[in-house]
Amino acid sequence: MAGTREDQMVAIVTGAASGIGRSVTEMLLARGATVIGADVSPFSGVGVGSPGRFVGRRVDVTVEEDLRAATGAALEEFGRLDAAFNVAGVSRGAPLMDLDEDVWDFTVDRVLKGVFLSIKHEARAMRETGGAIVNVSSINSRVPMYTGAAYASGKAGVEMLTRSAALELAPYGIRVNAVQPGLIDTPLTQRRITDHALMEDWRRRIPLDRPGKPAEVASACLFLAGESASYITGASLIVDGGWDLTSYPDLRSAASSTDRAKALD
Ligand SMILES: NC(=O)c1ccc[n+]([C@@H]2O[C@H](COP(=O)([O-])OP(=O)(O)OC[C@H]3O[C@@H](n4cnc5c(N)ncnc54)[C@H](O)[C@@H]3O)[C@@H](O)[C@H]2O)c1
Repeated sequence: MAGTREDQMVAIVTGAASGIGRSVTEMLLARGATVIGADVSPFSGVGVGSPGRFVGRRVDVTVEEDLRAATGAALEEFGRLDAAFNVAGVSRGAPLMDLDEDVWDFTVDRVLKGVFLSIKHEARAMRETGGAIVNVSSINSRVPMYTGAAYASGKAGVEMLTRSAALELAPYGIRVNAVQPGLIDTPLTQRRITDHALMEDWRRRIPLDRPGKPAEVASACLFLAGESASYITGASLIVDGGWDLTSYPDLRSAASSTDRAKALD
């Protein structure tokens, strides 16, 4: 149901082995839910401490049969699917003029096609009962980055896919929303977060002055999937420490000189 209590929820999480997906999984398990983790990487240590409530499956989100099997297993083993968190994603890129077609395909397949295939089979599993789907998009769905054309274009697609799915699936009682993380401290971003010069520049753009933690994105995902969000569908929640607010140059020094000029008039 669109408003299933977390302690009774059966959920699927793609990308559950690492970073944000792992955090979503651990938060769901801590709240009493049953979780099918779907990932191409091993689930080392995930679900320990929640016996019988975590099943890890090898799922490649670019392979339709894997999604069909994983959602089918949820129905077979647990009788229903209440919530789905589409978190799996990667980024490979290059400057546009050197961007090979296979690198474009690799990234867009995982970032966008994977979410399409996931939604398709998750919705089929939810069509009789209703449910909630949360897609992890990115601030890059709106903000381009050098060498990231494939990733950012794929994430922009996830935003439209979220809205299209919300429209089409509402008659089945299925809500679909997205979360747009900013810079989050996960294995995906380690190389950048440990680059001190880059981080200094980055922190100037993030009013809360630090990267986010996976759990800070996971809690937004759980909010959107839960009863408290029962009237929210087709929405995107930005979780970025305020980074989105700073695309304008920092005019504080200019503003104070204008104020001084006014005082002299
Ligand atoms: N970390 C950030 O700053 C940040 C910012 C914005 C958006 N995101 C998005 O959040 C999501 C999670 O990223 P993360 O930072 O936790 O990264 P991560 O690398 O820690 O985790 C990603 C997981 O996805 C899995 N995965 C990759 N390809 C897959 C496939 N084909 N099938 C199934 N699983 C696959 C990986 O094995 C890994 O476990 C991604 O969609 C990413 O684009 C991350």
